[in-house]
Amino acid sequence: MTVAFDKIGALGLGVVLALVVVMPFVSLSTTAPAIKPTQVDAGRQLYGRYCASCHGVHLEGQVHWDRPGQDGYFPAPPHDASGHTWQHSDKQLNELIAHSVYAYAVPGYRSHMPAFAGTLSEAEIDDIIAYIKSTWPVSLQAYQRVLDPAGIDFRDLPPGWRFPPTCRFHARS
Ligand code: HEC
Repeated sequence: MTVAFDKIGALGLGVVLALVVVMPFVSLSTTAPAIKPTQVDAGRQLYGRYCASCHGVHLEGQVHWDRPGQDGYFPAPPHDASGHTWQHSDKQLNELIAHSVYAYAVPGYRSHMPAFAGTLSEAEIDDIIAYIKSTWPVSLQAYQRVLDPAGIDFRDLPPGWRFPPTCRFHARS
C-alpha cells in the first residue's frame, strides 16, 4: 500500500515537475527569430540615419514627449526603456514605422512621425526594431515578446531573466 502510494506520489511529482519546468518552454516557444547581432549593427546605422534626428541619438526622445507641444503635435517619444515602445508588439512597431501612427489614432489626428514604407524595406525596418530592442533590459525584452503571440521565444535570453515586476505574465518569473 505504502509502496504503491509512494509510486503514485512520485509519478505525480514527476508530472508536476515536468509541467512546471518544461511547459513554459513547450507552450511559449515557437519559431520567433532571436535578435541577431548583424541585424543590430545594421539597425543601429539605419536608426542613426533615419530616426535619431527626432527620437534622439541615444533613443532618449524629445523633451516633454508625453504632452503636445505649442504646435499641437506630440513630440517624438523615447525608444529606450523610459518610453513605451516596448509596450508594442513587433507587428504594431512594423506598422507604426511603415505607415506612421494613423492606424492607432483618432480620425483627423496629425503627427510628425513619417511613414517609412517607401524609404525603408521591411528587412530594414526589422533591423531597426532589433537594434531598439537590443538596448532594453532583458526583462523588457521578455515582456515585449509576450505581446506577439506568434513570436514568443525566450530561449536566447540570458539565464536568470525575469519579467518586469509590473508584468502580469508570470510563466517563468
Ligand atoms: C520627423 C521626426 C521623426 C522621425 C524622423 C522619426 N519619428 Fe518616429 N515618431 C515621431 C513622433 C513625433 C512620434 C509621436 C507620434 C504621435 O504621437 O503623434 C513618433 C512615434 C514613433 C513610434 C510610436 C511610438 C512608440 O514609441 O512606439 C515609433 C515606433 C517610431 N516613431 C519609430 C520611428 C523610427 C524607427 C524612425 C526611423 C526609421 C522614426 N520613428 C523616425 C517623430 C519622428
